[in-house]
Amino acid sequence: MNDELHSDLARVLVPEETIQAHVKVLAHQISQDYADVERLYLIGVLRGAFIFLADLVRQLTIPHSVDFMSVSSYGKTAVSGEVRIVLDLREPITNQHVLIVEDIVDSGRTLSYLYKTLSGRQPASLKTCTLVQKRREQIDVPVHYLGFSIPDVWVVGYGLDYADQHRTLPYIAELKEEVYKK
Ligand code: PRP
Repeated sequence: MNDELHSDLARVLVPEETIQAHVKVLAHQISQDYADVERLYLIGVLRGAFIFLADLVRQLTIPHSVDFMSVSSYGKTAVSGEVRIVLDLREPITNQHVLIVEDIVDSGRTLSYLYKTLSGRQPASLKTCTLVQKRREQIDVPVHYLGFSIPDVWVVGYGLDYADQHRTLPYIAELKEEVYKK
């Protein structure tokens, strides 16, 4: 696979087959954990989570609904900084069983903000699911379902982008340092 890598990419970190296998495992686990609830309300965090969420929900065997939120943040690499909602949910989540679905937890700022904000809306339960989480200094936020723990490098693919590029790669790859440092 490395032979076909785009010149921006250093290496494949998580191959397509590994992602797909893990998505199935996560969906199975989630389906079991929520087997007794009337409906699971999944919230995808745009834009990065749309591919993961699309694959995940198609493997669920329980009743569910999907909605999306979008936030913007400033000072991307810092653990502190402002996050604000730019697209909110269509409906209230009061008394709903809610699962936030992210593509990546990097500083943890986005997930932490969403977790706190949605906790305040009185859901019946609130959990989080992320495909990848970086091993780095991070805001403390509960991650209930995790696909992969990855090193602290810039990653792209499977929803993750660099300047809106490489988002639709079927695998997760490390971006060469020279690309984002130039
Ligand atoms: C990315 C990603 C997460 C967030 C994680 O979104 O999709 O939502 O960053 O980073 P954090 O843990 O440091 O908050 P981004 O703001 O790049 O927007 P995008 O999903 O639209 O690409």
